[in-house]
Amino acid sequence: MTDLDTPAVTVRLDIVERNIRRVHDHLARHGIANRPHVKTHKIPALGRMQMAAGAQGITCQKLGEVEVFTEAGVADDVLLTFNVLGRAKSERLLALARRLARLAVVFDNEVVARGLGEAARAAGTEIPFLVECDTGFGRNGVQTPEAALELARTAMRLGGLRFEGLMTFPNREPGTRQFLERALELFKRAGVPVPVVSGGGTPAIFAAQNIPQLTEHRAGTYIYNDRMVVASGTATWDDCAMRVRCTVVSTPTRDRAILDAGTKVFTSDLYTVTGYGHLLEYPEAAVVNLSEEHGVVDLSACRARPAIGEVVEVVPNHCCVVSNMVDEVYGVRDGKVETVWPVAARGEVR
Ligand SMILES: Cc1ncc(COP(=O)(O)O)c(C=O)c1O
Repeated sequence: MTDLDTPAVTVRLDIVERNIRRVHDHLARHGIANRPHVKTHKIPALGRMQMAAGAQGITCQKLGEVEVFTEAGVADDVLLTFNVLGRAKSERLLALARRLARLAVVFDNEVVARGLGEAARAAGTEIPFLVECDTGFGRNGVQTPEAALELARTAMRLGGLRFEGLMTFPNREPGTRQFLERALELFKRAGVPVPVVSGGGTPAIFAAQNIPQLTEHRAGTYIYNDRMVVASGTATWDDCAMRVRCTVVSTPTRDRAILDAGTKVFTSDLYTVTGYGHLLEYPEAAVVNLSEEHGVVDLSACRARPAIGEVVEVVPNHCCVVSNMVDEVYGVRDGKVETVWPVAARGEVR
């Protein structure tokens, strides 16, 4: 690995394998189906590892990811967790549905339902769907359990759509449980069976069992973990498989080092943390600023300081966005590069 040119996005294979196993075992122990989200890695070989560990199917965020993973034959049960709008996308969805045992979608509004229903009816088929519920995150999702029932009923009346259940992201206590409890009550009273209740999020994995309504869980980040997951208390640095190898290219002052990677590798995603990465060899160092190709590291709190030419390993803030920045990821074991994976679904944002 020492001759790996930098910046290079590496993943520790032993940690990846352990993360896959640990999460799968936890969910299995609680009778919750595991539906990993592949947008984190975008690499079919890793999806296959997740399926081999016992996942029920995979989750994709974009149709392009479904296309890449279907072409690679990773799973025949796929959930697409994004509102699909417009004719071009409906046609791609239906073409994919013909190749898979199950391709389910989520939506949170009638406009999407109408478009999909119409496309499915014209193709003489039915698309299974979950109603997306906003249970506290403030992103997509119907706002109340009553609205979930209303949308499900409206969509069922349209034809071409088959109601399968409810979906939320991320599980948030106590809002998610309360929302789902009330929603299931309403659906029961209305005589509408809800076979699937799909929750998600890596920080929520180890508490998923506290939401008894969940039948499945979608986590993505857990396969690599990152600074945000460590900050949430769900993982330690030892659980972080993704490390960006960077070279120190300059030390303009005693307290400042410059890395050969900036926003074009790490992205500027801060989300819940301050700073842009964690240097494993220099834990007191802070990546305080990024420009496109430069990472500015504040060493003032460090006892030891890296020299020019030294290679350091940086755990990024948010591994999912880093995956989308590079052509390949290096799988490393015992200090050696064991495999190089093209990030096959990189850039698949449609
Ligand atoms: C809809 C949906 N489900 C599941 C996930 C997986 O969450 P995490 O990456 O925290 O595991 C995400 C992540 O963005 C998501 O948007």
